[in-house]
Amino acid sequence: MKRKDLLGLKEISKEEIALVLDTAAQMKKIILSGNKKSDSFSGKSMATLFYENSTRTKSSFEMACNYTGGTFSSLNVATSSVNKGESLADTARTLDAFGTDVLVIRHSVSGAPHLIAPLVKASVINAGDGTNEHPTQALLDMFTIREKYGKLNGLTVALIGDIKFSRVARSNIWGLSKCGAKIKIFGPGTLLPAGIAEIEGVTVCNSLKEAVTNADTVMALRLQQERMTSGLLPSLSEFSHFYGVDEEALSLAKKGALLMHPGPVNRNVELKDSALNSPQNVIDKQVTNGVAIRMALLSLLVQRK
Ligand code: CP
Repeated sequence: MKRKDLLGLKEISKEEIALVLDTAAQMKKIILSGNKKSDSFSGKSMATLFYENSTRTKSSFEMACNYTGGTFSSLNVATSSVNKGESLADTARTLDAFGTDVLVIRHSVSGAPHLIAPLVKASVINAGDGTNEHPTQALLDMFTIREKYGKLNGLTVALIGDIKFSRVARSNIWGLSKCGAKIKIFGPGTLLPAGIAEIEGVTVCNSLKEAVTNADTVMALRLQQERMTSGLLPSLSEFSHFYGVDEEALSLAKKGALLMHPGPVNRNVELKDSALNSPQNVIDKQVTNGVAIRMALLSLLVQRK
């Protein structure tokens, strides 16, 4: 990989995506082995800078760093000098000055990682910026789908729910469409972004049935209530009734289709218990694959140097 930073899937090529997924396949073997050690990030350091809450992304970057032989520092923003008024740029420059090789940032403002990338020597990885992108989540989603089918080209992935505020949806749309997958979308009109139907490979559906029928993968998305103003949804129970994926909806997808969700799940809102209890649920596998993808990215970005 030649690029310094991973800021989004909109700007990277399908060849780069394939390289990350192929490298992650090697990393997954290490995770599943009795000896979780590679030296591909040995002697290197990672700093995490999360202005928004996280369980999966932050911890899996930390595990990925451990498994690849590196060291890390995770800034607790809530108790940091951010609360004394230190700017994002100055905070990033400070972490960079520790000798950091890879800086992983999550921020509520779209474009925050793009702002700091040119200011620091470290490679910057976007761990989620506002409603814009969450590229490492989409890469682990694509890895999980490719692991099952051996390919992405020609598959159909149904994205259900809150598309407008979902950075996961946006990164998956860019990544999957570049790799030749077709994307079917269904959600409340208030939660569909303008211009979505014009993206090549994307079809906006009029019902849950239409979206999931014959899909190879059904991906429900978390309602990003923290980003919504009032009046976008009548109620959670009505959302669940019309947009919540249950066993019956899942049965319309292709036999053995994957059921995915980036987490955290609002149980019985985006996914009903009957779907969550299905053997087609691969949410835990997505989490494991997230470690492999992050191991791959840490290794590839420092190999560039
Ligand atoms: N999928 C995801 O980004 O989860 P976290 O918010 O727990 O990191």
